[in-house]
This record gives sequence, structure tokens and C-alpha cells, in this order.
Amino acid sequence: MTIAGSDPSGGAGLQADLKTFAALGVYGLSVLTAVIAQNSARVQRVCSVSAEMVTAQLGTIIEERKPDAVKIGALVAAPIVKSIAKAIDRFGLPAPVVDPILVASSGARLLDRGAERILSSQLIPRALLVTPNIPEAEVLSGIKINGISAMRQAARALHKLGPRSVLIKGGHWPAASAADGVSSKVIDLFFDGRRFVEFAADRIPGGGAHGTGCALSAAVAAWLARGADLETAIARAKRYVTQALKRRLLIGAGRYVLDHSTR
Ligand SMILES: Nc1ncnc2c1ncn2[C@@H]1O[C@H](COP(=O)(O)OP(=O)(O)OP(=O)(O)O)[C@@H](O)[C@H]1O
Ligand SMILES: [Mg+2]
Repeated sequence: MTIAGSDPSGGAGLQADLKTFAALGVYGLSVLTAVIAQNSARVQRVCSVSAEMVTAQLGTIIEERKPDAVKIGALVAAPIVKSIAKAIDRFGLPAPVVDPILVASSGARLLDRGAERILSSQLIPRALLVTPNIPEAEVLSGIKINGISAMRQAARALHKLGPRSVLIKGGHWPAASAADGVSSKVIDLFFDGRRFVEFAADRIPGGGAHGTGCALSAAVAAWLARGADLETAIARAKRYVTQALKRRLLIGAGRYVLDHSTR
């Protein structure tokens, strides 16, 4: 199941999550949190779904079938964050993969400070895995990430918020902006409170794509639903995103989008 905002251009959000699920061979359930007018270049307008309606969608789906795994993407208002935290307990949902989307890839801020605090105090503690990118990890941990040791420190600080594990994604690695980032790797850092694991892949030049974070967290949930353990799910999800990124497309004048049909 994905709980996320919509991206009518299909590069990110709930639509991209469903494409990822289908590519990885799992049936997708979806709960919409926000209708977002966006394309691969920009977010034009965000219209939040009411918290009651989010709970109603969840309740109706769960009457029929409990998801085997859950990922949570954009939650654009504090009452939605609260209602999902409550629903996880009330409906006995599996501990989710939480992608703490604070800022859309186009730069638009999606969550205000109050909602951010509720995300940290009520939702992240219920997560199996929380997957911030570097700017999000900096905001949530208060630590500036300027190297691998700061990244480790931020992962420790995020783990203290209470999730079972943390994966800081390295797409926005500071060195990546340097023109000489040739042969460099992109490293996602995992921490489960005991040990660190680095998931590395060759950095694909050209500044990534819109929706890589959505695809990664959806792919982790898909592999969990298929019965993989968490670290295997992350390794396979990362392989999926790298492949989809290699086959990225331009659908307009904005950023690249992934080819989600990659296997
Ligand atoms: N240029 C790249 N080459 C290879 N992998 C990449 C590249 N950019 C990002 N990734 C991978 O894509 C995944 C998402 O990382 P990223 O840091 O871009 O997340 P994000 O900022 O949340 O994405 P989004 O823009 O969708 O919000 C990670 O597994 C990361 O390693
Ligand atoms: Mg993201």
C-alpha cells in the first residue's frame, strides 16, 4: 500500500508508486493524501485531502484486505500526519517505510514546521524504515551533512527519534554538485541502531531525476511485501532505481523521469 500525494505527470507520488509496485510484481493499494497540480518541472498547487477522508480510504480498504507492506510519501498537513499515525495502531498496519518528504524535487516546500514536528514525534517512531534525502536528514536531525562521518552522526540522531531503522539517501551528496563528480558513487547509508551498511551504486551523471525517492521507498515496500528481509529489500530497491534511472526519459521541458517499467 502507498499513502501519498498525487503526481498527475506520473513521475513521482502515488502514480509512480503504483507503477513501481506493478513492475516488481505486487498488487498496489493506494490512499491519496493530496491532489497536487505538478509536472516534472514544478509544483503549481497543492490541495490537501481532509484527514477524515484519508482515514476513510484506509478503513474501507482494510475492511477487505490488510496490506503486506506500507510506504508513506507526501503528507501535506499536520492533521493527516496525526490521523495516519493513529490509523497504523488502530488498523494494525505493518510498520511502514516512511519517506519524509519535506520538499518536492522541484524545491517546493510541502510540510510546515508544525507538521514536521508531528512527523518526527508521531509517525517516524512507528516506522520500520525512514528514508530522508540529505537535506531532509539535515532538517530532521539538526546536523549539517558535509561528509560520511556527519552522515553517520545524522543517522544516529534520526534513529533516536524511534524508527527501527534509517536510510539516508545520497542523491544530494554535496560532492555530487562538483563538476568533477565523474566515477563517483552514490551511497545510501543504513543504520538500525547497531550497525551501518552502505548501499552504493555508480552515480549516473546528469543530476538524477524527479521521483527517485518515491520509487526507492515504493520498491522497498514491494520487496518487503514479497517476503524479503529489510536489507535485501533495500539492496533490490536500489538496483531497481539505478536501472530505471539508466533508462530515464524526458517527457517535457522539466527534469528527467524514471522508466518505471524497468525490472
Ligand atoms: N545520479 C544518481 N545516480 C544513481 N543513483 C541515484 C542518483 N541520484 C539519486 N540516486 C538514488 O536514488 C534514490 C533516491 O535518492 P535521492 O537522494 O535522490 O532522494 P530524493 O531526493 O528523496 O528523491 P526525489 O527527488 O524523488 O524526492 C537513492 O537510492 C539514491 O542513491
Ligand atoms: Mg524525496
